Amino acid sequence: MMKLTIAPSVLSANFGKISQEIHEVVQAGVDWIHLDVMDGMFVSNLTFGAPLIRCFEKPPGVIFDAHLMIEQPERYVKEFIDAGADIISVHAEATNHLDYAIQTIKKNGAKASVALNPATPLEVLDYVLDQLDMVLLMSVNPGWGGQSFIPAMLQKIRNLKARLQERNLYIPIQVDGGINAKTVREVVQAGATNLVAGSAIFDGTTGIEAYRKKIDRILEEASIGIREQQRIA
Ligand code: DX5
Ligand code: ZN
Repeated sequence: MMKLTIAPSVLSANFGKISQEIHEVVQAGVDWIHLDVMDGMFVSNLTFGAPLIRCFEKPPGVIFDAHLMIEQPERYVKEFIDAGADIISVHAEATNHLDYAIQTIKKNGAKASVALNPATPLEVLDYVLDQLDMVLLMSVNPGWGGQSFIPAMLQKIRNLKARLQERNLYIPIQVDGGINAKTVREVVQAGATNLVAGSAIFDGTTGIEAYRKKIDRILEEASIGIREQQRIA
């Protein structure tokens, strides 16, 4: 059984005290931190790049999961890895050279993942799937936190799960956007195991205890989803 992972997205956290936010959420029980990098081109929003990530204090054993919402991500892959990214997701829509981008990630020693926007078909993965360590399915249109989960993505998760099984690939399906204690059960039931949660965790109440409550609540619902998933499979 694949481990359930919650990857808090710091997009909705307080950027002014980001290392503290990361520290608290890790103390609250997670070991993945999802870093949303936006360039104002691929998506209209802007966040941070490698120079800032380099300054984030990374607790021991924590995975920095960089979600690059930037044009031609292959140009910057090495910089993000040098800055501390352990796994990098590049958007299939953002490059003409997806295979090259994946190879560049792996050559520089990180794990490689491809992210797909809600309307992008799974077929773009056909010739690269075997090289991937994870697939990120967007369940909102990228650019902002706090949007609602797009229900049609449940079928996309199921379809990806089936494709992975056909090829005997056991990599996590990460789902990003609109994940909270209400939506997570169906998402896990459909086959996701890695759950990005931004505004559901960074919603204004801060501190280890507050984060622990929110994370546990999501995990509790996710565990019900995984039991239902096993019943179906
Ligand atoms: C959106 C980002 C997400 C975002 C999710 O473009 O990729 O990671 O932080 O935020 P919520 O969980 O609020 O939908
Ligand atoms: Zn993201």
